Amino acid sequence: MKVGDFASVLGPFKATAEARYRRHSQDVFSQLRHACDIFELPSIAMDTIRLEPITIKHAEAIQRLASDPLITDTTNIPSPYPHDGAAVWIGQLTDRMQAGEEYAYAIIEGETLVGVCGFVHVPENKELVEYGYWIGTPYWNRCYATAAGGLALEMAFDQLGFKSLLAPVLTRNAASARVLEKLGFRRTRIYNNTRYLKWEKTEMLADYELTRAEWMKSNTRSEG
Ligand SMILES: CC(C)(COP(=O)(O)OP(=O)(O)OC[C@H]1O[C@@H](n2cnc3c(N)ncnc32)[C@H](O)[C@@H]1OP(=O)(O)O)[C@@H](O)C(=O)NCCC(=O)NCCS
Repeated sequence: MKVGDFASVLGPFKATAEARYRRHSQDVFSQLRHACDIFELPSIAMDTIRLEPITIKHAEAIQRLASDPLITDTTNIPSPYPHDGAAVWIGQLTDRMQAGEEYAYAIIEGETLVGVCGFVHVPENKELVEYGYWIGTPYWNRCYATAAGGLALEMAFDQLGFKSLLAPVLTRNAASARVLEKLGFRRTRIYNNTRYLKWEKTEMLADYELTRAEWMKSNTRSEG
């Protein structure tokens, strides 16, 4: 990956990201390329993926993709997805993003929104922050969740100052568990669903966690 390519797609984060990637010879995209066997997937160009803070301009694509029951089945997104679900969600999100309580990003490749990721329930001490994501079904299994996850971890630990991340996943959601494993998360517990009203208590959840220190270590980075 050329540094210039990377910097051009990362928007507001490009200055620090570019500097860091100049400092570190082993970059996260090299690792993700390996993890996703990207060379057998010519349809994806990781260098061109970027995360954009969600605004109303993303509503149409989110509405279209999130209306798929395969997205709402394994996320906390309402099902069936309301006809104005995206616009209403984005309207409420703006205040929460400004207050630092929540951060939501569109995963964009080229001009196309392929999914959404973000951080919810951000506590004031930034100790344990929940990470969530979905990829539109036309784009599944092309490594988008893993690649976007790499960028999201950069943002969480380098830009937003989070200390650790938590991702609760339905145990029947094997693809999501695999994405988290590829990103370096460890499974910390399995339990009956008491977290989400949307699902029965008989559903099983697994918590996955990643600390900043673990992320730093796995990317052979040094503090400071
Ligand atoms: C989970 C999800 C985000 C994955 O997105 P994606 O872009 O397809 O993920 P990636 O391509 O980066 O990686 C998927 C991995 O799961 C694997 N996988 C896919 N389906 C699988 C299955 N049924 N069982 C086991 N592994 C599976 C893929 O082979 C790949 O692993 P590999 O690289 O080792 O081969 C996507 O399926 C999705 O949005 N699902 C609905 C919403 C959701 O569940 N969000 C997460 C809530 S916790």
